[in-house]
Amino acid sequence: MASGVLIAPSLLAADFARLGEEVRAVDAAGADWLHLDVMDGHFVPNISFGADVIRAIRPYSAKLFDVHLMIQPADPYLEAFAAAGADLITVHAEASPHLDRSLQVIKSLGKQAGVSLTPSTPEEHVHYVLDKLDLILVMTVNPGFGGQAFLPSQLEKIKRLRAMIGGRRIRLEVDGGINPDTAHQAVAAGADVLVAGSSVFKSSDYARAIQALRPGPASFAV
Ligand code: DX5
Ligand code: ZN
Repeated sequence: MASGVLIAPSLLAADFARLGEEVRAVDAAGADWLHLDVMDGHFVPNISFGADVIRAIRPYSAKLFDVHLMIQPADPYLEAFAAAGADLITVHAEASPHLDRSLQVIKSLGKQAGVSLTPSTPEEHVHYVLDKLDLILVMTVNPGFGGQAFLPSQLEKIKRLRAMIGGRRIRLEVDGGINPDTAHQAVAAGADVLVAGSSVFKSSDYARAIQALRPGPASFAV
């Protein structure tokens, strides 16, 4: 399982004036995926960047672009994010009244599809769309800002989702407040993709910060 855990640095915490260089730097430092947080100032109380910025940084890495849409509505923009270079597009269950249709659209665009749940949304929300999912994203903070504290209440949700996923090929991602300690807890609960903004980009050594999030033998001792 250790080799199955992926680290996805979130560019939200990067230096926006040097975004291309930051993408190249975390790629070289061993990031498995790049996590891109799109915020609209409506679904979440913050605005970040959109499809044009993703298109601009696409040439700086060949790694998977994991696009987390915190926007409402999402459907009118799915095609633009696919065309901009997203490999995996995640929509929020709370922002998508016709979630099954949104996932169908993402798949029809040839992209992997994900659903994200905010901390107050129960895991049952994804039950009837499991057949269309490549990823479930459990928010371990309330979405909108980097640098918030991990919510331990989400560990039970992660465990329940791991059981619900069973033998399906669905990644289970956590996002928010991930540092070496909370990474360990999330992986022990069943997560296999770790998003990390501050703990990577606020470090002076990206490679070391990424490595510190990877599970060591101790993570699997219990
Ligand atoms: C929050 C975003 C996260 C954020 C995580 O709404 O979805 O991806 O960048 O930042 P940290 O790791 O600093 O909590
Ligand atoms: Zn995110």
